[in-house]
Amino acid sequence: MSETTDTTETSTATGAIDGEADTTERPLVEGDLVLLVDAKGRRYLVTLAAGTEFQTHAGVVPHEQLIGRSEGIVVSTTKGQRFTAYRPSLSEYILAMPRGAQVIYPKDIGPILMLADIEPGCRVFESGVGSGALSMGMLRTGATIVGYELREDFASRATKNVRGFLGPEALDRYDVQLQDSYAGIDHTGFDRAVLDLPEPWRVVPHLADAMRPGAIVVSYSPSIIQVTQTREALDRAGFAEASTMEVLNRNWHIDGNAVRPDHRMVAHTGFLTRARRPAR
Ligand SMILES: C[S@@+](CC[C@H](N)C(=O)[O-])C[C@H]1O[C@@H](n2cnc3c(N)ncnc32)[C@H](O)[C@@H]1O
Repeated sequence: MSETTDTTETSTATGAIDGEADTTERPLVEGDLVLLVDAKGRRYLVTLAAGTEFQTHAGVVPHEQLIGRSEGIVVSTTKGQRFTAYRPSLSEYILAMPRGAQVIYPKDIGPILMLADIEPGCRVFESGVGSGALSMGMLRTGATIVGYELREDFASRATKNVRGFLGPEALDRYDVQLQDSYAGIDHTGFDRAVLDLPEPWRVVPHLADAMRPGAIVVSYSPSIIQVTQTREALDRAGFAEASTMEVLNRNWHIDGNAVRPDHRMVAHTGFLTRARRPAR
């Protein structure tokens, strides 16, 4: 999705190169996902289609007002409410997409990608897949996922979300199976395992056989009681290098000289536990 710019030229704030046409412009086209953001920061996801309208209590925007226009364009509804249109980033998509199960938030997905060292071509075991938020982060780095999920409606939602943001080709690397991961794992040779389900310690004993030596497991759990049980299970199964952390996210209010931390912060969401499978 990213554009490259010749850094030997002088770029303007809009990305245009001085004295030249704005070569980085990529107009919105039919089929694009677009995030419409109003003055209060409310966000709405739409897929552009000719003959369709974005409808809100504050009026209507025909998609024709967006198709062919520049990303970042401001449009007005029939009642005069203004929206700015952007292609959503992955974080924005995750926060706005339809959900089945509770998602892992971007603040934790980023660190999980690093802790688990998710890289192009690596084979990941994921359970459960829920709404597919974490799956999308991993697929976008080029990983291949076998995901075990108990609920058919969640598996279907995750698959739709992945297709919606990454396109149908991403599904070639996303094999979601309706399986209970507490009962066992029918596949072997995984480079990584990423767990987000109520009792991860019940999956850990199966991971020892399903993962290759040197492989990394990361487990996300909201409660420290879940963490202690998982850590004990990792020890029993012979995993090494175990560690647990959490990520706190504090934004800052910056308005001229009024500079202070926001009154609210995203503090606890979940604990991230990481361990490695040694050779036997
Ligand atoms: C919190 S959600 C996962 C959310 C996901 N990480 C995301 O970011 O969208 C937990 C999921 O685990 C699934 N689950 C629970 N127990 C399971 C099991 N034994 N085997 C497979 N999936 C299970 C649930 O159905 C649920 O969809």
